[in-house]
Amino acid sequence: MARRMLIAGNWKMNGLRQSLGIIEEIRAFAIVRSDLDILIAPPATLIPAAVKIAGLVKIGGQDCHSKRSGAHTGDISAEMLKDAGATYVILGHSERRAGHNEKSAMVRAKATAAQSAGLMPVICIGESESERRAGKAELVIGRQLEESLPHDTDYVIAYEPIWAIGTGLTASLDDIAAMHIFIRDRLPAGKDVKILYGGSVKPENAAAILAIEDVDGALVGGASLKADSFSAIIDAAPIRFAASK
Ligand code: PGA
Repeated sequence: MARRMLIAGNWKMNGLRQSLGIIEEIRAFAIVRSDLDILIAPPATLIPAAVKIAGLVKIGGQDCHSKRSGAHTGDISAEMLKDAGATYVILGHSERRAGHNEKSAMVRAKATAAQSAGLMPVICIGESESERRAGKAELVIGRQLEESLPHDTDYVIAYEPIWAIGTGLTASLDDIAAMHIFIRDRLPAGKDVKILYGGSVKPENAAAILAIEDVDGALVGGASLKADSFSAIIDAAPIRFAASK
């Protein structure tokens, strides 16, 4: 059976209350494109307000702690995200792996916590430019998968080559296709798992990337901060299903 597409926007550390207008605009697209899922991960401060106006748009967090509660100043648990109305959480983004020293084992613990709280984890993996140049991209991705995946196979994978994030560079269509096949082959629930591509996805390249067979959607950073560019990316997604609720 064809997998339902997921177009996800990662706002990162961007967005004040006035940015909620973007979600209001995207809400209309979620009705037109009910053949796919649309997710927006705003900063945690905006989650409750975003949930109120989201309609069919799903709202997610950008990280969670692996523990349910406790003395972890500044952190947010999966249960708190769920309580705020989120249904997804992005985990192991390369900016967190680099900026917060998150190792794959920690990503796995967070993913398990997210699943226990009833959230769908979007687990990010990706190789650096030097790793790709050295011909080690598959080795790195294989290891990240092995070490980051939780036991329960209910998750989304986002393949994001680090060198393509926020740089305007994207992997070639052939490299994306090959890596997505490589990843799917290594997933215990292979054909049932959505694998998103991320890294400088924009209206101009979205149609070609989303047409690749093993690409089940996109994780979009910069271009999700404006309703017109994010909606153009949604528009570019092929229709895999007849529209449904
Ligand atoms: P970008 O970010 O689309 O701005 O490259 C993608 C991401 O970091 O998820």
